[in-house]
Amino acid sequence: MSAQNRLIIEVDKESNTISRHIYGHFSEHLGRCIYGGYWVGEDSPTPNTRGIRNDVVEALKEIEIPNLRWPGGCFADEYHWMDGIGPRDKRPKMINTHWGGVVEDNSFGTHEFLDLCEQLGAEPYISANVGSGTVEEMSKWVEYVTFDGESPMANLRRQNGRNKPWKVRFWGIGNESWGCGGNMEPDYYANLFRHYATFARNYGDNRVYKIACGANGGDYNWTETVMRQAGRHMHGLSLHYYTVPKDWNDKGSATSFDEAEYFTTIQKTLYMDELITRHGAIMDRFDPQKRVGLIIDEWGTWYNVEPGTNPGFLYQQNSLRDAIVAGINLNIFNNHSDRVQMANLAQTVNVLQSVILTDGEKMLRTPTYWVYYLYKAHQDATRLPVSLTCNKYRLGNREIDAVSVSASKDRNGKIHVTLVNADPNNEQQISAQLIGAAVKRVTGQLLTSAKINDYNTFDHPDKVKVTNFKGASLKNGNLSVVLPTKSVVMLELE
Ligand code: AHR
Repeated sequence: MSAQNRLIIEVDKESNTISRHIYGHFSEHLGRCIYGGYWVGEDSPTPNTRGIRNDVVEALKEIEIPNLRWPGGCFADEYHWMDGIGPRDKRPKMINTHWGGVVEDNSFGTHEFLDLCEQLGAEPYISANVGSGTVEEMSKWVEYVTFDGESPMANLRRQNGRNKPWKVRFWGIGNESWGCGGNMEPDYYANLFRHYATFARNYGDNRVYKIACGANGGDYNWTETVMRQAGRHMHGLSLHYYTVPKDWNDKGSATSFDEAEYFTTIQKTLYMDELITRHGAIMDRFDPQKRVGLIIDEWGTWYNVEPGTNPGFLYQQNSLRDAIVAGINLNIFNNHSDRVQMANLAQTVNVLQSVILTDGEKMLRTPTYWVYYLYKAHQDATRLPVSLTCNKYRLGNREIDAVSVSASKDRNGKIHVTLVNADPNNEQQISAQLIGAAVKRVTGQLLTSAKINDYNTFDHPDKVKVTNFKGASLKNGNLSVVLPTKSVVMLELE
């Protein structure tokens, strides 16, 4: 047992709301995310509703998925939405050049995606094609989806079976325009964003929330230039950062890694805090009121694909390490939620840091899924400022903070505290003071497992799962917690 960690939670301090959209997800036409992951077709033996698998929808509803970003990713900048509407057997096919060179038959298009979002009760976030599309194409997509009156696009939508428009607030204008989305310079992109954004119209009461392509990791010049030249035309600016344990040529295995590689993974994921702080400081100069949201619409772990699987499909397993990564990042987003308005984990089902894996008719919830289950209490709750003095997790001459935390108060006055102990060797004893609250009861839930690389399989889908937590107690209003090694804990106080 290491020395005590000290935590102060300021329940009496005015703060901001933690947007539920921080708990968003991202699904691309990539590998088995859309096809097999959600879409099985109406004639499939897998139970489905209008072609969308029921088990996946049910599982995502349990974690109250607030939004879903689609159709990419890199795929978005070569997707032509008109290929994905109308009778399925008449839709043209294309090659998915980014992801495995497979044939995309466009059977999952705009109507199917928006049906999926309605089944999930999630808000759609559509990424429009700037890289190989046109302003006209994007503008017509917004009209097709959101216009209620008489117009060529609204009439085409009706002809395709949808009378009423959908509500789609979130529109991304270009994805990774500095890379797969066109290899642009920031000032060129900033002008292009202004041009496209002008023609993303508000129809009726649908207010378009325009999200500009933001930086790749620590490219602060991108944020500076785009904010300076286009900041006042946008509502959100994205940021992409992936946690890659080794390097892009050999990223490391999802399940076979030693403690040194585990340590590096956690160290690299903690960099998210610095990224948000530094990009946020640049945004503060141009937007001191914090009107423009920082939208971390791609994040998560990226490993080598599972042996024997298509390298272009990005299929990876998901272990307790991923749950620790998720818990840390979501705490970081909560603590920066005065600027971070949305985040989207890449990529929901069967791709990268998935919350769900499928194999034919089988489905499992990954350790990362259970972190979203524990943290859902933070959605749209009031952030509570926290200050933590914590022990270090040391390996050789390297050290990082062992504990991560965030806290919120929901509309019923319940306080939720989420804690992560990244240290696989030492429990953490935490002494917490709640300023401005007289709490009488604490309950908790715990996610951990015997080994840091434990994961769920289709034969053993519940190896890593949530259990009741008995390690928290209250004495004279003060909270004591013993966090097990390598664990994620959610406490509820009332
Ligand atoms: O999530 C996989 C890919 O990562 C996305 O398509 C792209 O935007 C990013 O480089």
